[in-house]
Amino acid sequence: MSVQSSVRRLTAPQITARKGGEPIVSLTAYHAHTAAIADPFVDFLLVGDSLGMVMHGMENTLGVPLELMIMHGRAVVRGSQRALIVVDMPFGTYEESPSEAFKNSARVMKETGCGAIKLEGGTRMAETIDYLTQRGIPVMAHIGLTPQSVNVLGGFKTQGRTKDAWAAIEADAKAVAKAGAFAIVLEAMAEPLAQRITKQISIPTIGIGASAACDGQILVMEDMLGLTGQVPKFVKEFGQVGTEIQAAIKAYAQEVSTRKFPAAEHTYAMKDD
Ligand code: KIV
Repeated sequence: MSVQSSVRRLTAPQITARKGGEPIVSLTAYHAHTAAIADPFVDFLLVGDSLGMVMHGMENTLGVPLELMIMHGRAVVRGSQRALIVVDMPFGTYEESPSEAFKNSARVMKETGCGAIKLEGGTRMAETIDYLTQRGIPVMAHIGLTPQSVNVLGGFKTQGRTKDAWAAIEADAKAVAKAGAFAIVLEAMAEPLAQRITKQISIPTIGIGASAACDGQILVMEDMLGLTGQVPKFVKEFGQVGTEIQAAIKAYAQEVSTRKFPAAEHTYAMKDD
């Protein structure tokens, strides 16, 4: 018999079953502490490769190694109990062949304990999505603005701004849904296009800058907390955590400079002991 937590995590099929129902709530998470804070309020947490930019100061996501995703994935799984944890496959670890994608995705699932992976691409990734799902790996797809293709797209630009670009993006959505993806991220997409896609496919669409026409939304947690400073126009900041951190650090520095730093009493007791 195995020792299991009493809290059951949401699964990929449970996310799929939410199509057209109550909106799906999700955020990115990169570490145990913020995962624990967000866990009661979200349906899934994405360990996005955006961590390369947000946590590690990279210019884009192309340089993120698989090992870094695994390390952050483990932390987020440890910090959470209820949310489905989805880990992004970084650039260069899944595109070459379905078998390469399986080898690396299986490693991510085994070493992190996550419940699903995400990869970028539409029609061109359909064969791989089918291959992975047939072999036990739930896949979240990601189309529209796919940051790993920033050099091909010519920048971080909204997709489907003119109607003549819609057919290809709709075909991408249909291809990944048919291949077995359990949900699909639509990033930076015009509202009418997101609405058409959401109506045409049977899996939930999760928008990031793709409007309320989607079945749910994901935001980068640090962006919506007001921690990153510069955020895309569509992001609503629900807090000003960066300003609060700065004020706390300034107050701390002032106390230390006046020698106000107490010793532990008898033991290293915590405040609520
Ligand atoms: O890497 C990431 O954080 C993402 C989300 C923005 C969807 O892919």
